[in-house]
Amino acid sequence: MIFSLANRTALVTGASRGLGRVIAVALAQAGAHVIVNGRDAGRLAPVVQAIKEAGGSARACAFDIADGEAREHALADLEAGDIAVDILVNNVGRRHRGPVSEIDHGAFLALVDADLAAPYTLTRALLPGMIARGSGRIINICSIAGPRARANDAAYTAAKGGLAALTRAMAMEFAPHGILVNGIAPGFFATETNEAMTRDPKVQRFVEEHIPLGRWGEPHEIAGAAVFLASDAASYVNGHILTVDAGLSVSF
Ligand SMILES: NC(=O)c1ccc[n+]([C@@H]2O[C@H](COP(=O)([O-])OP(=O)(O)OC[C@H]3O[C@@H](n4cnc5c(N)ncnc54)[C@H](OP(=O)(O)O)[C@@H]3O)[C@@H](O)[C@H]2O)c1
Repeated sequence: MIFSLANRTALVTGASRGLGRVIAVALAQAGAHVIVNGRDAGRLAPVVQAIKEAGGSARACAFDIADGEAREHALADLEAGDIAVDILVNNVGRRHRGPVSEIDHGAFLALVDADLAAPYTLTRALLPGMIARGSGRIINICSIAGPRARANDAAYTAAKGGLAALTRAMAMEFAPHGILVNGIAPGFFATETNEAMTRDPKVQRFVEEHIPLGRWGEPHEIAGAAVFLASDAASYVNGHILTVDAGLSVSF
């Protein structure tokens, strides 16, 4: 029962595929009504259908989280429908690999806008409702990139490091209102976006040599962390970044 999300509504950004989809399905299985977000309504429909077919409750809410006007319209629609979001999962994360010399100011800002500024703005928009209800959960999907770094990934690493810092800062500020803010830092997960990397022998060698379990994470292996942080089981967990990487980031 401590993991039950009955009578709660969750908004999961970037839930049409990958980790966001898995998180949306898992929150629904735990009893939440789930609003699945992505930019394309057509790609969200099968997720909503899968949740409903499994006995859960869901609706789609298509908008680009980095587009201020679209975001405001979508949130106004939810409010007009009297839908209060109890759990926000900021899952969208763009990546733009390349050396600093090739990622110009505009490209850097576009990435930071989607990965850091949009979670800030989305949280800010949902905050008054959470404060009024005296409860809420924010879960930011960070990364082991942030506290750790690899070459040719500066913008993403900076944005994800910033998102972890934002998680801690918001956790301090919102706790008096009963709102808990935590993050999840995934390691190497075999999502659609990483498909080419999973077939790259060089990457595979790195995975086998450096990840203590010697393999990629399966997307479903992120689900438990999200359900935990959204549920009463985590009622005293705040400002924490839960790393889910099979021990990669603590190995040497
Ligand atoms: N996979 C990993 O190994 C890994 C490791 C560490 C951290 N992470 C983090 O985990 C999160 C999920 O990763 P993933 O691999 O599952 O990502 P993904 O497969 O690339 O999925 C991204 C999702 O976000 C949606 N999306 C992209 N831009 C959007 C926007 N501007 N507005 C609304 N929706 C948008 C996409 O749908 P549409 O294209 O239909 O909009 C899709 O549903 C990201 O934050 C990523 O940085 C992943």
